[in-house]
Amino acid sequence: MVACGTSWHAGLIAEYIFEELCRIPVEVEYASEFRYRNPVIYKGDVIIAISQSGETADTIVAIEKAKEQGAFIFGVVNVVGSSIARISNAGAYTHAGPEIGVASTKAFTAQLVVLTLIALKLGKEKNTINEDRYVHLINELHNIPEKVKEVLLLNNEIKKLAEKHKNSKDALYLGRGYNFPVALEGALKLKEISYIHAEGYAAAEMKHGPIALVDENLPVVFVATKDSYHEKIISNIQEIKARKGKVIAVISQGDETIPKMSEDVMIVPEADELVAPMLSVIPLQLFAYHIGVVKGCDVDKPRNLAKSVTVE
Ligand code: AGP
Repeated sequence: MVACGTSWHAGLIAEYIFEELCRIPVEVEYASEFRYRNPVIYKGDVIIAISQSGETADTIVAIEKAKEQGAFIFGVVNVVGSSIARISNAGAYTHAGPEIGVASTKAFTAQLVVLTLIALKLGKEKNTINEDRYVHLINELHNIPEKVKEVLLLNNEIKKLAEKHKNSKDALYLGRGYNFPVALEGALKLKEISYIHAEGYAAAEMKHGPIALVDENLPVVFVATKDSYHEKIISNIQEIKARKGKVIAVISQGDETIPKMSEDVMIVPEADELVAPMLSVIPLQLFAYHIGVVKGCDVDKPRNLAKSVTVE
């Protein structure tokens, strides 16, 4: 999978989903790195190019190079008829509608849905997913729109939270498993919309150095919805608490453990861990948005950024 920015984060989540459902090895590459490397590509390798605009220069060059070496290019693109859509051998449009804001939000969610559907179809074809799990996940996808509406009801609560943290100079976003790329995406949103430095990191990696950053002034946002990593993320939260970090957590409805360990929580409906990122990302998008607004930033057209990076 090749992509940039938020689309690359969608690829990271898709990597876990494809490996889980299809038992296919997946590599997710920054297109901006992939295009200059000498990657090993065999005829018949499938490259999924993920792009909202379909015009990102790095992603275009990356897939052109790969195509020359015999790869089959499958585009997951939002803008119909865009360059990446035209270069791809096949593809699926995300149909999120025109995304006006420079910061990608609804397109990211749509990318996750399309990539999950592709993995489900592949898993069914390869018989690597049983019927019950297949039906369960299709139902989980059908339930997402209603659950997203519930998450959007958090808006005023998150606006207050943004007011509380608007003067932070730095922030850490931590997650594990499917929520690790969500932590990366939450950090990117805060950076690009409110200009506050934020770093997304794998929660389990903190002990290998970055935990030295933690003190009583550092907000640490955990993406900690109920999943197979839950016990582990709880111990990661304890590590931060022990060092006086300010814990803010995105958690699942019904979680009674993490609220006791957190300064603030944002509660989302429970969902299967494969689709939970479609919900857990929304509070982080709203958090970045409200901090940007309260700081007087142009949240639609942040400084230094373009909606589509058509230059290298
Ligand atoms: C998203 O919020 C960013 N503005 C940016 O990282 C974007 O995701 C990246 O430039 C890739 O764009 P694309 O999806 O249109 O290829």
